[in-house]
Amino acid sequence: MAQPTAGAKYDFSDRTKYDALMETVRNRLTTRAFDSTYVVPREHYEMILDAARHAPSGANAQPWHYIVVTDQDLKNKITEYFREEQVARAKLKMKFPTPDYRGLATAPGFVVVASDFRWVKAFPVLNDGSDLDKMYKENAERILLQSVAASTMSAHLAAAALGYNVWWVTAIGQEKAQKAMKPLLGIPDELAVLDIMCFGPSAKPPYKRWKKSLNEITSWNKFDQSHFMSEAKIDEWIATTRHKVMYRDAENVD
Ligand SMILES: Cc1cc2nc3c(=O)[nH]c(=O)nc-3n(C[C@H](O)[C@H](O)[C@H](O)COP(=O)(O)O)c2cc1C
Repeated sequence: MAQPTAGAKYDFSDRTKYDALMETVRNRLTTRAFDSTYVVPREHYEMILDAARHAPSGANAQPWHYIVVTDQDLKNKITEYFREEQVARAKLKMKFPTPDYRGLATAPGFVVVASDFRWVKAFPVLNDGSDLDKMYKENAERILLQSVAASTMSAHLAAAALGYNVWWVTAIGQEKAQKAMKPLLGIPDELAVLDIMCFGPSAKPPYKRWKKSLNEITSWNKFDQSHFMSEAKIDEWIATTRHKVMYRDAENVD
């Protein structure tokens, strides 16, 4: 460890751990097709979920459950629901560039992420049915979802640190898919399946996607108005750019 200079109270000059962390953060790359012949050692599941366990959460409620799916038959059945959702979305003409969800069945690492919305009670709410209560409840749901996302992200970074590619899948659809998936995995009705974390060696060379620059996302003391996008600009981005940044190689990435 770096020694503090004489008289200095703190020394934050050692970048070693930051650099190692950023190496992992930068190289956490999404892939949507894996080498299905690879078998994830149990220890890796445990190492990855150990990272999830240490995440921060509102009220320290830790409102997350991770169901590791190693049974190929279960993976295939879950994949089938995603295929159905893909077909349903195509029919709805959502124009969302939906990926090929058959890749799910190829994922050697397959973890279903669930949460229990009853935990919103642990966050600041009035529980008296008033309008104010509704507002607090809305915020409480955000607290819950952010908590699970923080934990899930730790798991994704741990998987990336082990050298795996990852896939964060939320396209679970509505009630129907929830109802279909829960009995398959014995998940109690009270819980909600939020997403699926896939990881493993990629079937194709993974690539880095476009990321906004540091300046574009940062304001100092006051929101930088040049960062504000009109609704028309957002619509334009969706129409012209979204599909490229989701699925194609990007330029100007660092
Ligand atoms: C909350 C969240 C939800 C996502 N949902 C899906 C999804 O349902 N299907 C999918 O193919 N990718 C999904 N992704 C992956 C993103 O498309 C991907 O992270 C993004 O294109 C950036 O690529 P990168 O992860 O390689 O940086 C999701 C990612 C996050 C964080």
